[in-house]
Amino acid sequence: MTVNRQIVLARYVHGEPREEDFALVEGEVPEPGPGEFVVRNLYFSLEPAIRGWLEGKANYFEPIPLGGVVRAPTVGRVVRSRHPDYREGEIVFGLNRWEDYSLASDETILLEKLHPAPDLPLSYYVGPLGGSGTTAYIGLHEIGRIAPGQTVVVSAAAGATGGMAVQIARLRGCRVIGIVGSDEKARLVTEVFGASAAVNYKTCGDLTAAVRALAPEGVDVYYDNVGGPILDALLLAMKPLGRVVCCGMIADYNRSDDPHPIRNLWEVVSRQLTLQGFLLFTYHDQVPEAQRQLEEWIRSGEIRVREHLTRGIANTPKAFCELMRGVTMGKALVELDRPEED
Ligand SMILES: NC(=O)c1ccc[n+]([C@@H]2O[C@H](COP(=O)([O-])OP(=O)(O)OC[C@H]3O[C@@H](n4cnc5c(N)ncnc54)[C@H](OP(=O)(O)O)[C@@H]3O)[C@@H](O)[C@H]2O)c1
Repeated sequence: MTVNRQIVLARYVHGEPREEDFALVEGEVPEPGPGEFVVRNLYFSLEPAIRGWLEGKANYFEPIPLGGVVRAPTVGRVVRSRHPDYREGEIVFGLNRWEDYSLASDETILLEKLHPAPDLPLSYYVGPLGGSGTTAYIGLHEIGRIAPGQTVVVSAAAGATGGMAVQIARLRGCRVIGIVGSDEKARLVTEVFGASAAVNYKTCGDLTAAVRALAPEGVDVYYDNVGGPILDALLLAMKPLGRVVCCGMIADYNRSDDPHPIRNLWEVVSRQLTLQGFLLFTYHDQVPEAQRQLEEWIRSGEIRVREHLTRGIANTPKAFCELMRGVTMGKALVELDRPEED
């Protein structure tokens, strides 16, 4: 434990992120003070939300300064501790940083001690049993209030959160339609994740018409990962009193200065829709129950896991750029190298 490799923000990101926006540096391994502990990061969770912290503007978190280590959820092992509740060897999830060693404490957002099931890969606690799965689970139940027999549409349906939302809604007895950006993703969503149908929004022409053809009675719940033109099109396909679970708006993350206009907002009034945003950390107390159910479904094979795994901390910027270009399927994550240490 001598060097702490870190990925820092080399320049503010405008538009699509590029590898040159980041730099690999060597920092100090942190020493824990009273109430603190050091986490040896094993996996980084690559998340579109990180894009919002890279352009020097505050959104729901402070922006990352130039030269600052990029903030990200990680799964890691406690290697030094001066915290009474965290012992060396324990595995934790938390909003840490793209670095080998992170300093953590009770102030760490999303901090959770994991009790990884020995029969499941630890990497699953990054996505399907981590932020992606629990976000989808809580979003569908708490915000979407899904019920058997309902028609649920999920966008970015081949992605980390969307892929889990498709499968959870199916397991709850809903009819699920996925919206995706390629035919390969459409096959994953129907053949592996079990959606009733998938629509490729890049080739289908009129998206509202395509969804209406599959759900002529209207959509009960739209689980929205993307916002923008897809949200606009779905507003015209909702059932009266339908619900839109506003999970994310990735369609605008690379163009925050010029977000897409939403032209069909009147439908919220005329169809008496509910649009509700949510952030996982507000529902942190519901995470253990979501994880318990998701573990059960994964173990029984009712939920299929798809990962897009990149190895090596140095490849993190490239992997993040791929995520933001929409080329990944399933959960995008980085497995850290350097297993010879600790
Ligand atoms: N509220 C919360 O607490 C919370 C927690 C986790 C994630 N999220 C949100 O959930 C969403 C998905 O995150 P994730 O980690 O699961 O990522 P992901 O879905 O695995 O990857 C992102 C996908 O978004 C789609 N996409 C990218 N640009 C798009 C565009 N311009 N228009 C439409 N779709 C586009 C791409 O799929 P296609 O090829 O199919 O377009 C891409 O593969 C994000 O908006 C994220 O911010 C929210």
